[in-house]
Amino acid sequence: MSIKIPNSPEADPSVLQIWGGAPLKGHVRISGAKNSALVLIVAALLCSEDCRLRNVPALVDVTLMGEILLSLGVKITQTGDVLDINATTIGKSQAPYELVSQLRASFFAIGPLLARLGAACVPLPGGCTIGARPVALHVRGLQLMGADVQIEHGMVNAYIKGNRKRLKGAKIYLDYPSVGATETLMMAATLADGETIIENAAQEPEVVDLANFCNAMGAKIQGAGTNTIVICGVPQLHTADYAIIPDRVEAATFLIAGAITYSELTVSPVIPDHLTAAIAKLRDIGAQVVTDSPDCLRIIPGSSLRGTDIETLPYPGFPTDMQAQFMALLSLSEGNSLVSETVFENRLRHVPELNRMGADIRVKNNHAIIRGVPMLSGAPVVATDLRASAALVLAGLAAQGKTTIQGLHHLDRGYEQLENKLLKVGAKLQRLPQSQANISPVSAINSDALIPS
Ligand code: EPZ
Repeated sequence: MSIKIPNSPEADPSVLQIWGGAPLKGHVRISGAKNSALVLIVAALLCSEDCRLRNVPALVDVTLMGEILLSLGVKITQTGDVLDINATTIGKSQAPYELVSQLRASFFAIGPLLARLGAACVPLPGGCTIGARPVALHVRGLQLMGADVQIEHGMVNAYIKGNRKRLKGAKIYLDYPSVGATETLMMAATLADGETIIENAAQEPEVVDLANFCNAMGAKIQGAGTNTIVICGVPQLHTADYAIIPDRVEAATFLIAGAITYSELTVSPVIPDHLTAAIAKLRDIGAQVVTDSPDCLRIIPGSSLRGTDIETLPYPGFPTDMQAQFMALLSLSEGNSLVSETVFENRLRHVPELNRMGADIRVKNNHAIIRGVPMLSGAPVVATDLRASAALVLAGLAAQGKTTIQGLHHLDRGYEQLENKLLKVGAKLQRLPQSQANISPVSAINSDALIPS
């Protein structure tokens, strides 16, 4: 595997030009879930034999995670959307800074490395444009499981205390149902001595996917998907062949693409239960969402869009990863809408960019007050994080005229073949080098927009 470090300042970064107003029609294939793939690749470190992951999306972040495993001495090969990973021997317990600093999710590796090697040294993930992204809950849980964890010079050094070879089961209460902390601790507990109980655990579908993958490798995890997860440690994990769930955030993004362009689209494969909140909000806004088959949803636009309120919450509440995309839709919905972002402290940075396109959105603390406008107009805009970039694409599909989006490295981290999937259903867009798009590079006010999320 080889990776172009996603944030290396490219000489001539590409931009996306979208000509809005084109009706869409047809079917969109949904890829494997990014937020499952990233953590399941890390979980493969727990396995002492070969394991195979299928339906792995082709994303910059996924390739980067593969590079991190390679740097640890793990064998990993990719054939299409299939990853074969062999972590029988893990040569190193320290993940390289230049790679980990590019990908927050790689911090989750501290759990499996501790569980397998008894020691781990992982760079402290920095903050990003959406928030400080602390890891205190991960660290506290590992300490309760018998790890000594020191943070110095930006590195998290952990090792199993005393003459123990394994972590010990513990009862852990998470102050916040953190997805990453739940996943890190669940992985660490699979090979610990005794039983671990994680209370106030995250219930996201990706947590369940991780538990199912670990159980396929012989782990003993119960309760994933509820707020209490019980893990009984086992001596080692064995080979497994596992298919990753479809990406619910990508699916929601394309359902919104149908609603915002008044187009009928189908999306599959999906797991409808993972999209309950998004489907409910699309219906509030005036679209129909019907189940064509157990793994296929169809969006049928209404005659108009009407405003509604959204508050992001831990699952099964409304997902923060769908907030920006819905805001693009609400900016064109009649009446007023209130969007409250309660999960991350700085995840409203797409607002000024949507306002550049004619939206009427005011931010007060973690609330965005949206007054629906009859139309958006195309404009040069800058993506500030992964889901904000998707929101700008959606706004561009509906806007009158041309929208040019810079900061596409955000988009490439989380959406596989987004342009091709949109072109296939009739969108008018193209990706081209910035120098050919005759727009000025990112303006000073947005220069930090190029910092990775
Ligand atoms: C995961 O991030 C996802 N990333 C995020 O998706 C997603 O937005 C988030 O969960 C919430 O659903 C991956 O799975 C790779 P958290 P994670 O720990 O695990 C606070 C996307 O766009 N917190 O649940 O980092 C934290 O500050 C990305 O695909 C602590 O206070 O999220 C935040 O406010 C973005 N202390 C809240 O919890 C901790 O120790 C939620 O964070 C850990 C977290």
